[in-house]
Amino acid sequence: MVKSPGRINLIGEHTDYNNGFVLPAAIDKFILVAIQKRDDDEIHLYSNEFKETAATTLQNLTTPGKQWPVYILGVVDQLQKARHKVGGFNLIVDGDVPIGAGMSSSAAVECASIFALNELFDLGIYKMDMVKMAQKAEHEFARVMCGIMDQFASMFGKEGMVINLDCETLKYEYVPIDLNGLTILLFDSGVKHSLASSEYNVRRQQCETGVNLVQKGEPQVKSLRNVTMPMLEKYVKDELIFKRCKYVVEEIARLQIACEDLKNGAMQAFGKKMFATHEGLKNLYEVSCTELDVLVDAVKNNPDVLGARLMGGGFGGCTINLVKEAAAEEIIKQTTEKYKQQTGKDLTTYRVAIKNGTAVLDENNY
Ligand code: GLA
Repeated sequence: MVKSPGRINLIGEHTDYNNGFVLPAAIDKFILVAIQKRDDDEIHLYSNEFKETAATTLQNLTTPGKQWPVYILGVVDQLQKARHKVGGFNLIVDGDVPIGAGMSSSAAVECASIFALNELFDLGIYKMDMVKMAQKAEHEFARVMCGIMDQFASMFGKEGMVINLDCETLKYEYVPIDLNGLTILLFDSGVKHSLASSEYNVRRQQCETGVNLVQKGEPQVKSLRNVTMPMLEKYVKDELIFKRCKYVVEEIARLQIACEDLKNGAMQAFGKKMFATHEGLKNLYEVSCTELDVLVDAVKNNPDVLGARLMGGGFGGCTINLVKEAAAEEIIKQTTEKYKQQTGKDLTTYRVAIKNGTAVLDENNY
């Protein structure tokens, strides 16, 4: 059995596929897979969440009409493409990472599956290579052109640490997060985001368009990571593309300072940057929705809330809130009421703790 966690991201949203930085951490919500070899070339899957089976073969790797198997079959496909010897297997998937809530359940399924296959068939693949294959599985089987953050955080998470990951070089640093007296709350809007059908891929293309425009005058530029505001002003005249790129350039810079805040224990300053990120995601990048805005507005003027913003790809899912522990219950109560009043919807709330990444499950880490 292998467990692989969901993730939060403190700041640095939509920066990973622009070669910027991210600040994620693995959480205490996991996907579990149990796996066993077969002596034929068949793959038999069971999802406890969907109470469904799916079966195919190593040669086929499709299960028409079902979405959940693609995250497992997608990594099998990557392993085969890299010429690793994978045999038939039975696999059960279960877990408590909420689906479509922005906690990266799909990345956790991919990481758990590839880790389990690596162990079972003794493939000897490095964790970083597994991360890259899991990301590619998402591109090619789930058709979401995601960055590397989610799979990376699920695989490399460390208890009590956030990861400052440079998505250009893939160098990373664990940064201890001093939550002394603070806690992280996730407010789930209940609006299911599906990145595949959302505008996620469109945003990625818009960023690429911006880079192409800048490159006309600044050929050394490879990604928005190397772009400055003066460059954008000079070369990007299309208003929409300008807005999208402005958000990313600002967010990459914001994360750098936020990271310093974190190291210095300046949590108030850090929280302010979370609010600023939300503004950018809402007005410039336009990946928020009414429900997420209601949730951020509900806590904005509360002195016990240091920061709040939508988390992950957007268009639904959760907000992440950095709040004073002593006030957490009251904040949950008030926000739940306001959310019901303003949207008619029930709010699901989670308190999350920062935990280790993907691992074989045994008595020691159950
Ligand atoms: C999703 C993607 C990530 C990242 C975030 C936005 O979670 O899978 O790669 O782009 O959205 O920061």
